[in-house]
Parts: sequence; structure tokens; C-alpha cells
Amino acid sequence: MDLIIKNGTIVTSTEMYQADLAVIDGKIAAIGTNFQEEEAEVIDAGGKLVLPGAIDAHTHLAMPFGGTISADSYLSGTRAAACGGVTTVFDYPMQRKGKTIMGIIDEKKAICEDEACVDFAFHCCITDLNDGAILEEMELAVSEGITSFKCFFVYKKEGLMVDDGTFARILTRGKEIGAIINIHAENPDMIDLNVAKFKAEGKTSPWYHYLSRPEFVESEADKRAVHWAKNLEAPLYIVHMADKEGLETAITAKREGYEIYVETCPQYLEFTSEVYKREDGRNFVCSPPMKGKESQDALWNAIRTGGIDTVATDHCPFQSYEKDWGKDDFTKIPNGCAGIENLYPYMLSAANAGKITFNKAVELCSGNPARIFGCTQKGSLTVGKDADIVIYDPSKDFTVSADTMHSDVDHTIWEGTKFHGYPVMTFSRGKLVYKDGKFVGQPGWGKFVKRAGKK
Ligand code: URP
Ligand code: ZN
Ligand code: ZN
Repeated sequence: MDLIIKNGTIVTSTEMYQADLAVIDGKIAAIGTNFQEEEAEVIDAGGKLVLPGAIDAHTHLAMPFGGTISADSYLSGTRAAACGGVTTVFDYPMQRKGKTIMGIIDEKKAICEDEACVDFAFHCCITDLNDGAILEEMELAVSEGITSFKCFFVYKKEGLMVDDGTFARILTRGKEIGAIINIHAENPDMIDLNVAKFKAEGKTSPWYHYLSRPEFVESEADKRAVHWAKNLEAPLYIVHMADKEGLETAITAKREGYEIYVETCPQYLEFTSEVYKREDGRNFVCSPPMKGKESQDALWNAIRTGGIDTVATDHCPFQSYEKDWGKDDFTKIPNGCAGIENLYPYMLSAANAGKITFNKAVELCSGNPARIFGCTQKGSLTVGKDADIVIYDPSKDFTVSADTMHSDVDHTIWEGTKFHGYPVMTFSRGKLVYKDGKFVGQPGWGKFVKRAGKK
């Protein structure tokens, strides 16, 4: 055996029990007691929880966006991931008009092979069908382990938006080839209308970012996406759900038996639209924006009752000087925030405080993303799976600050947030990559996760 983690409490999506865990060649080899310890490295996890590594199913690393490039590279983003207990990072490469899916995937894969500190997977954003060629290529992408694709109902001026017809074709094709389609749901026309109105009135503070995309702007698009998925009987994954009405529509469809999944993000669980009234409101500008308390309460309720399937970060940070471009005009603020290192600590400290169970935190951050997106070797502490393991100290107190995070970003919306309980070690396929506040891994260690499709 290479590694034995003993005396810890193993947490799965359904159970918590005392046992030792043994690792051979990066895989979980056995879970039990009284393992032979000769030649193995032994970690005493007494008083600690032993969890599967988190899967962040939603990040944008080194992505050209908002007039710049998101501030975390594949190296710094995955380094921060490791230090927050995330052992698989999903990125969203962007297919553009005239370009192929595999062109952009291969480009990003080559960068990750040099830089990634933990394992990585890709959803691919589709922005143009290239006269239908992309629909054909989707099948090739699935055979290469890219089994999910994303569409935007927004970012019209940026050339990312798809219309309903295109979305319907992509959804239908996804169903045929065993892929799942992810959607960013907000209504672009209402946003443009509101933005033009507020600008004409000289209303340019970050508060008007929220008011240009309030609850009903998101819910219309959520409902439209659900409507197409139901009627085309195609699987759908709604990313970064933030509003109550859209959430309720999705949950109703799920209960009717449709294959619809809902993701939310820690920022929607922690903050409300009130943050846009703060002096540093621009730092919180992301799309969709944080919503009101009613939506926040609905999200927490759905977390507890199974209406929400996953929690991921939408990590897409920009430096302070870039956020400052929009000091006097919210439309110039690059959209997105950092969060990759805060996901698991946030959800686990909610569990530690009794708001949810530890099983639920594991299900939302690891078990469900692995299952939904076909990461067959990830998502649980089970013999034969990758030894992606987090050791969590439920008594360790931690206060977030940009200085103690491991990303390249100079600020964080989580500044000053206090966590009771914190990860103390992260293993990626049996290799220690984070220990007691320090990154101890190696760029280039991360491997591409070739995912299974639904067929
Ligand atoms: O504001 C955000 N979320 N930026 C990243 C792109 C997206 O919409 O997911
Ligand atoms: Zn989005
Ligand atoms: Zn996103």
C-alpha cells in the first residue's frame, strides 16, 4: 500500500462511518481496519472527516471575456482549487463562429497538460453551428470525453448568444448522442432594454447591474429553457440558478420526471442584491446577479429538499483594476467573481453549523456532479475509484482573505468570511497537493478526465 489514512470518519453522500482507507497507485484500494502499514505512508485522521474531493463543475479559466481575460490561468485556478479541496475542475472553452469544438478543446487540453495542478474536464460552449457542422462534430466530441455542451441565452453583443432555434437543435442533438446541454438562462432583450434606459437616466452604479437583470429577467429564460427541454424530451442542466421563480419551474419539471438538473453557486447562497449598494459593489458584479432574500431562501430550501443538484462556483475572476473600469458605469465591469477555493469550505461549514448534513455537502459538490457529467472514477470514496480525498478538520477556524487564497486574483468577494471547519489536506489521485494552508502539488500533475456519455 502507498498511503493509509486511519482513524478518520469517512463521509459519502449517504453515510458517515469510522474506517481506515488505503491507496495503491492513485486508486482507493480498500476501506476497513487493521491494514498492514509497512512501507505505506500513514496519516492519522483522528477527529477529522475524510471526504471525496470536490468537483467544481463550472469555471472560466484564462477566458477572453469582458474586454480582457479572466485573471486565473489554468495553473493558478487549479492551484487554488487544490487548496480548497477541489480535485476536478471543469472549464468552459468557447467555440466561436467558424471554429471547431475539438480545435478549442485540444488547445486548452495542451495548456492544462502543462499547468493543471488537479484533474480537469471540459464542457464546450457552442456559440455558432457553422452551418450545421458543429451538430455533427458534437458526436466526435462525446467520443473524446466531452459529453456536455453549454449555450448562452445572453451575451448577444459579445456574439455568444444562441437563439431558440439553435438551442432547440443543440438540445435535440445532445439527446441523440448521449450528451447533456447546459444553459445560462437570462433574457437578453430585457437586459438591453433596461441597460439603455438606465444609461439614458444616468443611473450607472452597480445597483443598476442588478436592476437591469432582476428576478423576472432570469426566470423568463429559465422557464423557456425548461419548456424546450420538456417538449423535446432532452436532458438539461441549468447553470448558476439564482432566482426563485425559475427554480420552482425547474423543480416542478424534475418532479414530473424530466431530466433537468439545477446548479447554484455559493455567492447566491451567501449574498443578496444588497451587495450592489456597497462601496465595492462592482466586485460582486457577475451574471446572473445576486438576487433578493426570497430567492436566496428558496435556494437554501431547494438545497435541503433535493431541488438543487449541484453547487459549483462559476469562478471567473478579474483584477481590481479591471473591475474599476466600471466605477462610474456598471456596463464596463467585467462580469464574474472568484470562488474556486471557497466552494467546499463554504458548503462544509454550512454542514458543520447544522444547516445541511455533511452527506448533502458531499452529494452537491462531488457525488452529483460526477454522476451527472459522467466522471466514472470520481465523486465518492469507493474502492476502485481515484483517490481524490480531502481531510477536513471540523474544529479549525479560518478567515478568508485575498492574501491567504492561492489564486492570482488581488481581491475576493469572500474577504473576511469566517469558516468554522476547514480542509487541512487534499490528495489528487493519492498525491498530496495541499497541506495546512500551503499548496504542495505540482503544475502538470492534473490529468484530463475523459467522461462517459449517457449512451
Ligand atoms: O458573470 C459571470 N458569470 N461570468 C462568467 C460567464 C458566465 O456567464 O458564466
Ligand atoms: Zn453564465
Ligand atoms: Zn459561467
